Amino acid sequence: MAQDLEAAYGLDTPDDNIALYRDWARTYDAAFAEDMDYVLPMHVAEAYRDGGGTGPVIDLGAGTGLCGAALRTLGISPVTATDLSEEMLQVAEGKAIYDRLFTGNLLDRLPVGDGTFAGAVSSGTFTHGHVGPEALPEVLRVIRPGGIAVISVNAAHWSDKGYDAAIAALEGVEATWKEVPIYGAASKGAHAKDLSRILTLKRSVG
Ligand SMILES: C[S@@+](CC[C@H](N)C(=O)[O-])C[C@H]1O[C@@H](n2cnc3c(N)ncnc32)[C@H](O)[C@@H]1O
Repeated sequence: MAQDLEAAYGLDTPDDNIALYRDWARTYDAAFAEDMDYVLPMHVAEAYRDGGGTGPVIDLGAGTGLCGAALRTLGISPVTATDLSEEMLQVAEGKAIYDRLFTGNLLDRLPVGDGTFAGAVSSGTFTHGHVGPEALPEVLRVIRPGGIAVISVNAAHWSDKGYDAAIAALEGVEATWKEVPIYGAASKGAHAKDLSRILTLKRSVG
């Protein structure tokens, strides 16, 4: 629903996110993802597969599980989910996609050890009002040397928040990106043509 998307883009703090997604969780899949023809989670999952990504993989800002479901469709498992919103994760849990789900704040330290996962994915979470480039070191911390993270970054948010400089400052990482549409042909409204950059970060082995 367009008004939910505008509200989401206008958020400021993690507490704002928790409050908005508490109310949005039940209708997110039908009234947002289906209505807007939200294709971004599959773009992220395909880029993860094409980059050689395997399980175990963590879905960061997993929400209701759309990216996890796309990974499973592509035969990638096991998948772990983390999100700030308990209510979004409850919807995801009902789909039986993830081996493990836990609440966590990407802008803080996630409750997992260094190098726990072969890789990480994130769709729709690095965007206006949500999570910025300051979270990239935490993403890299939880994946193994040689692993990859595939993260969608809203294209306008990329410029606003200085992702070029933040990526250049990361050590021991090879970064590439490509631009994709967030929504499919059936989408309507002011955000129908919005773009996202699919950022792939590959941690060096040594
Ligand atoms: C637009 S939804 C995307 C959900 C899902 N990945 C998808 O593509 O449908 C953004 C998600 O980011 C989560 N989020 C926002 N800030 C976060 C943070 N600091 N740490 C972890 N998750 C966060 C929200 O709770 C929400 O579930």
